[in-house]
Amino acid sequence: MTEYHRPVLIDETITLLNPKLGGVFLDATIGGGSDAAAILEKIGPTGRLIGIDRDPDAIEFARQRLREFGDNATLIQGNFGELAEILASLGVSRLDGALFDLGVSSHQLDAARGFSFSRDEPLDMRMSTQEDTPTARDIVNSYSEQELADLIRRYGEERYSRRIAGAIVERRANAPIETTGELADIVVHAVPAKSRWRQDIHPATRSFQAIRIQVNNELEAVERGISAAIEALGPGARICVISFHSLEDRIVKQTFRRYAGHCQCPPKLPACVCGAKKLIRTVTAKPVTPSVDEIIDNPRSRSSKLRCAERVDSRESGVDSR
Ligand SMILES: C[S@@+](CC[C@H](N)C(=O)[O-])C[C@H]1O[C@@H](n2cnc3c(N)ncnc32)[C@H](O)[C@@H]1O
Repeated sequence: MTEYHRPVLIDETITLLNPKLGGVFLDATIGGGSDAAAILEKIGPTGRLIGIDRDPDAIEFARQRLREFGDNATLIQGNFGELAEILASLGVSRLDGALFDLGVSSHQLDAARGFSFSRDEPLDMRMSTQEDTPTARDIVNSYSEQELADLIRRYGEERYSRRIAGAIVERRANAPIETTGELADIVVHAVPAKSRWRQDIHPATRSFQAIRIQVNNELEAVERGISAAIEALGPGARICVISFHSLEDRIVKQTFRRYAGHCQCPPKLPACVCGAKKLIRTVTAKPVTPSVDEIIDNPRSRSSKLRCAERVDSRESGVDSR
């Protein structure tokens, strides 16, 4: 079987998640099933793994890869943003651990689905081609210049967002922008020459990230999915989240803080409205990052950050004063 996805921080993740024999575990991003296989090995024949992915290719691949585990693995094609509904539909009310390995898989990047600026392929970027959502092509060719600039700044944290948006609008006046190669070329030439290759990333990285996040409505799902998983954890159960860029990591950090009982409301508000409650304690004070060896072996791991939290006993519950 060819490699579908090379997992990052897998040893660190499995150590922190600490799957126990007979446990019920969630892998909310099954991808190629490497993390899931490692969890299934640990939970043994009396355990259960619930695996989710919004990409039908991932579910199909993982189903083949994990078939030796039989009914111990339940695979669902769906969005982890709807985790509460998915768990309810399966009759699962309590998890012994949960993993979210965010972002895209190597398969998605390599399979000509329009995620990659390194090759010329149709602009798509949908994680699930079954979802009836606008593609990257739709966004690039239909958003106003202001909307594009806002999107690229907000989700790409790109300082040249206005110049890039202007260049996109200028180019598409002749003919629609159809491919990743065209879009990458527009972005490269919109960025001032002196800063074009100064960083260690391709100049189109941030713009592609922004459009991908918008196409897949990624950030809202992260907040909803992690919250639902924390709510479902039993006492002592852990949640591990691997993120790949600062916007994701910020959501993970803030969601953990809120569930660790730290109120996130503006200080002027007379009472807490953010829903902070003490359900977890943070296990990783600082995120775990890949070793130099892992980064050399798998450069896609370089921006990854792993955070872990543990559900506390309900007797410890209570919100920290603001
Ligand atoms: C980095 S890969 C996971 C790799 C996996 N841990 C492994 O061992 O192969 C991320 C996966 O998450 C999926 N994904 C991203 N956002 C999702 C969402 N909101 N709901 C469900 N799956 C999602 C992607 O389709 C992709 O297959």
